[in-house]
Amino acid sequence: MCGIVGIIGTDPVSDRLFEGLKRLEYRGYDSAGIATIVDGRIDRRRAKGKLANLAERLREEPLPGTVGIAHTRWATHGAPTTGNAHPHATDEVAIVHNGIIENFRPLRQELEARGRTLTSETDSEVVAHLVSEAIEAGKHPREAVAAVLPRLHGAFAIAMLFPRYPDLIIGARQGAPLTVGYGEGENFLGSDAHALASLTQRIAYLDEGDWAVVERDSVQIYDRDNAPVERPIVHSGASAALVDKGNHRHFMQKEIYEQPMVVAQTLKSYLRPLEEQVALPDMAFDLAGIERVAIIACGTASYVGMIGKYWIEQFARLPVEVDVASEFRYRDPVLLPGTLGIVVSQSGETADTLAALRHMKQANVTTAGIINVPTSSMAREVDLLLPTHAGPEIGVASTKAFTCQLSVMAALAVNLARAKGRLSAADEAEIVRHLIEAPAALNEALAHDAEIEAMAHTVAAARDVLYLGRGPDYPLALEGALKLKEISYIHAEGYASGEMKHGPIALIDDNVPLIVLAPSGPLFDKTVSNMKEAQARGAQVVLISDADGIASAGEDAVATIEMPRVHPLIAPLVYAVPVQLLAYHVAVAKGTDVDQPRNLAKSVTVE
Ligand code: M6R
Repeated sequence: MCGIVGIIGTDPVSDRLFEGLKRLEYRGYDSAGIATIVDGRIDRRRAKGKLANLAERLREEPLPGTVGIAHTRWATHGAPTTGNAHPHATDEVAIVHNGIIENFRPLRQELEARGRTLTSETDSEVVAHLVSEAIEAGKHPREAVAAVLPRLHGAFAIAMLFPRYPDLIIGARQGAPLTVGYGEGENFLGSDAHALASLTQRIAYLDEGDWAVVERDSVQIYDRDNAPVERPIVHSGASAALVDKGNHRHFMQKEIYEQPMVVAQTLKSYLRPLEEQVALPDMAFDLAGIERVAIIACGTASYVGMIGKYWIEQFARLPVEVDVASEFRYRDPVLLPGTLGIVVSQSGETADTLAALRHMKQANVTTAGIINVPTSSMAREVDLLLPTHAGPEIGVASTKAFTCQLSVMAALAVNLARAKGRLSAADEAEIVRHLIEAPAALNEALAHDAEIEAMAHTVAAARDVLYLGRGPDYPLALEGALKLKEISYIHAEGYASGEMKHGPIALIDDNVPLIVLAPSGPLFDKTVSNMKEAQARGAQVVLISDADGIASAGEDAVATIEMPRVHPLIAPLVYAVPVQLLAYHVAVAKGTDVDQPRNLAKSVTVE
């Protein structure tokens, strides 16, 4: 979960490396650093904390050099200190690393037993020392890297430079992404196409086990057996423009407000309004042959999977299992023929979800991916890519990706239902009409922003908050709790409302706000009964419902948030808005770092 950039050029590189890091800050912001070769020696600037601190360091002491590597870190092994910041270096090599070297302990002991002194607490530093030893023993960096890579276990992407060989940088990948960028008289390495977008649009994605010797005028890629290989050079299409906040105070706020537009954009590519039909991209398999569905994802994306379970089971009558990706492959899941494996991911790079996808592919499961970043590893590996068109999501808290993923999940559920002969044309037309209404309903929901801001203080003072929902609004309760936890640092839990009296109701007292998600519909009365049980025990209820719901059940609530009256199908999309806005305003009231909350990174590329 770190970001890597490397440049071998003819002009000074540190400004451009820093620009690349800005594009990669979503991968981690614990510390950052740059190394270049200056007068035949490695020179480094490193700083703890956000990139602004590295910028300050570079202002104090500029870094010359036409060959360089750079890194933004999300700490795994070793605290986020300047000493643990990458690049790590010896006299012979500097390295930056994304991933985890799982066998670093025995490697470190081995190195120390040979008298080497490692100065950081990181797993990464062993790589620098192993490569360094091989070079000191007389090997060319190419041979040194070829000898060391098989000794490393775990997932990694690495970039290295060598002060005695200033005409090359070397990159390697295994389980973490790395791309090569092709320029004119200069070449690049980067964690993704986005990192290199302002440097070049011509890129090659390294395959698992590949490593690349990158010189100014040539690139040679080797596979894991050290055989020279060609990887296709493709047009990346990644935008060179850095996304800005526009008139908004935070990216999260901007992204919440973009939802009507990006949901409309996403739905446009899945709906045929005139025919009142849903359509998926062309696929190489027949949905009619699908007998069951497995949905795998992490965090917010996993709640999309849970909502998808309600929809696919209801419409297509197919059994659906939902797993968080970190549990999936280690429980050795039973994957029967006829399974459609669906991964859901904004980044397309989440390590556990990617590993789950590969696990399913190895088991010959047909796979589909609801993915926002079209150049990501998952997007390139699924059998059927179902893109969301949310655009870049910068805030760590996922907002617009969630509602776009739900839009695509609804389209997929309808397609499965039609393919299985479970949905009449009239029912499909009705669903299409409701989905078409979603962007306008999202706009109406956003119109309640000021009210939500005004009542946010009732939640901001709490130590614990509970969220309740039933049916598809239960995963939304989990999402509400996750949003609040990650950006406001208030402890929050989501429960299926019927579960309250099986334990959580013991937590209720007048200091614990209870956020109840209860759109009018078949489950409304049941949810309200559970809410009343909690109110009878002193719960301070914030009721999120439509005008009818608030009129019939809102009288004892400490606050109500009115949503437009919508069909239950699109309620999870629309009710996502107040849940996101509430977390946002509570975080602003508490003065936390909304877009880059502590300890988190946007993209989790380690297990
Ligand atoms: O990129 P992905 O959608 O695969 O990311 C999955 C989770 O890491 C992500 O949704 C995370 O839970 C968000 N910070 C939630 O707001």
